[in-house]
Amino acid sequence: MSLKLKTIFLFWSVILITLFLPSTYFLDLLQKEIQRDVIYNVKKEINSVQFILEKCNFKKDKEFFDTFIKKIGKVIQDRITYITEDGIVIADSEVDKKRIKQLDNHASRPEIVQARTKKEGMSIRFSGTIHKKLIYYARKINSSHGLPKGYLRIARPYSTVAVVLGRIKKNIWGITIASLLLSGLLVYIFGASFFKRLNRFVTVAKAIGQGDFSRRIYNSPAKEFEPLVEAVNEMANNIEQYVATISKQKIEVEAILNGIDAGVVALDKQGKVVQYNKAFEKIFPNMKNYVGKSLLEITIDTNLHQSCQKALQQQINIKNLEIRIDKEFYNVNIIVIKKATDLGAIVVFHNISELKRVESMRKDFIANASHELRTPLTSIRGYTETLLDSDKIFKEKGKEMLRVILRNAEQMNYLLDDILKLSRIESGKEEFIFENINIYKIVEKSWESVKHLIKQKDIKFVNMIDKEIELISDRESLLHVFQNLIHNSIKFVPDKNAQIKAIFKQYKHEIWLGIWDNGPGIPHEEQDRIFERFYQVKKYVAKGIKGTGLGLSICRHLVHNLGGRIWVESPIKELGYGCIVWFSLPKRNN
Ligand SMILES: Nc1ncnc2c1ncn2[C@@H]1O[C@H](COP(=O)(O)OP(=O)(O)OP(=O)(O)O)[C@@H](O)[C@H]1O
Ligand SMILES: [Mg+2]
Repeated sequence: MSLKLKTIFLFWSVILITLFLPSTYFLDLLQKEIQRDVIYNVKKEINSVQFILEKCNFKKDKEFFDTFIKKIGKVIQDRITYITEDGIVIADSEVDKKRIKQLDNHASRPEIVQARTKKEGMSIRFSGTIHKKLIYYARKINSSHGLPKGYLRIARPYSTVAVVLGRIKKNIWGITIASLLLSGLLVYIFGASFFKRLNRFVTVAKAIGQGDFSRRIYNSPAKEFEPLVEAVNEMANNIEQYVATISKQKIEVEAILNGIDAGVVALDKQGKVVQYNKAFEKIFPNMKNYVGKSLLEITIDTNLHQSCQKALQQQINIKNLEIRIDKEFYNVNIIVIKKATDLGAIVVFHNISELKRVESMRKDFIANASHELRTPLTSIRGYTETLLDSDKIFKEKGKEMLRVILRNAEQMNYLLDDILKLSRIESGKEEFIFENINIYKIVEKSWESVKHLIKQKDIKFVNMIDKEIELISDRESLLHVFQNLIHNSIKFVPDKNAQIKAIFKQYKHEIWLGIWDNGPGIPHEEQDRIFERFYQVKKYVAKGIKGTGLGLSICRHLVHNLGGRIWVESPIKELGYGCIVWFSLPKRNN
């Protein structure tokens, strides 16, 4: 129910209560007063009738008694009844003479019963004889004045009371209804202006709620509403300021995003696009709007889609994912957002096509140059060896120089071998033959082929690989890796009490193979770098330990191609020095 209706009803209820309660009390009082007044009059009347009757002597003419009573009755316009002590009616002003004898015995009438003991009696009830509600008043008459012993009774119609009372009631209810209508009208008129102001207030408040934060309320509907008006205006002020700040920040963030060269896209927790920058639109130009779409709808690259799902599900960042879109190559990083926002991840696309082209040119150049160098180098080695074999051309001093030339030429040959091998693997030209391989035997063979490189060192080699272990892998690659690792260890173990071991660890899906040595180990900060091309540990270069820095780089490529990883553990926990170069290989079924 509206406030307006409620107010009218409230007013009406108050008016009804204030009029109804006193009116009913007053009407009740009035009824009693009128009744008492009527009874008083009847009493006075009965005195007069009694006086007249006593003055007339009816002993001789009993017949005339009834006629006389009828006459007085007509004069006073009330019913007069005379009843004997036994209750027999002997005269009645309103009952036919012949019918009087047929009337009931009146001894048990309430007014008569009362008059018998108290001399006078009164009752208000319905008369069966004349079919009306009457007020009866009876008085006991002792026969000293020639009247028969009995009761004189006067009855007056109750309607005299009811008519007066009815008229007053009608007036009172009339006044009540008029007051209700008038008050309703007044409430309506006074309320209308209040509700008009209240409506204006509500309209403005609604507009603010719907986002029109510039609206304010200037007129309060009433004094009591002023704090509310102030609060609403202040709230609108604050919201307007917040919205302005947020809009400004949004513009700034968009400007920053669009200023970035890399394509950036923000995904929600389900992997659907929330926001993206201009560079992203350039990468995927064929769509009008990406918001709400998954990356799979934007690009068919399943690898990218799966990586995003993985990053979101496992809450891990995925870096350096390489994907190809049309003719361009991209390095993609997926950064998961762990904060409590709707955002799930940010995906950044760096175009690396140019980098790739340069890299490929560099590789081609190195491969070609190395290849071209090989032929002259072969003739240098050939001629040097021939010269060394002949005692006629060079004497001992000259031969010493020729040996240095040959050593360096051989060193250069190794280097060229390594460079060509690396470029073959990198360009995917290296072929792999997967077959069942016994690891123990491969290790033995590797050791045999490199042990001649040991010079003046006392090395104990232990092959601890389980003789039963067999793996499906590429024989040549494994030989190359083991030879490289063992050769490195040979270079670094001490001259005395040197130890090299081939060790392993079995896991459910892979096997770890390691070359263990008790050399000086590899400093922690350089353990990742030694797998880079040409990288050598600085302090060992300073000590003059020879190498090209390509061995481990080739090993890493080979191991990756076999489906494994390669890493360093140094120092060895039990020793406090030394190093293990581990690599893992997957257990394949075929
Ligand atoms: N077992 C080891 N102990 C200590 N340092 C090592 C060991 N193995 C490798 N290194 C360090 O890592 C560097 C890189 O090794 P890598 O096999 O790639 O190159 P290299 O042995 O120097 O040359 P290459 O193998 O091409 O003849 C080495 O120069 C050396 O400094
Ligand atoms: Mg090496």
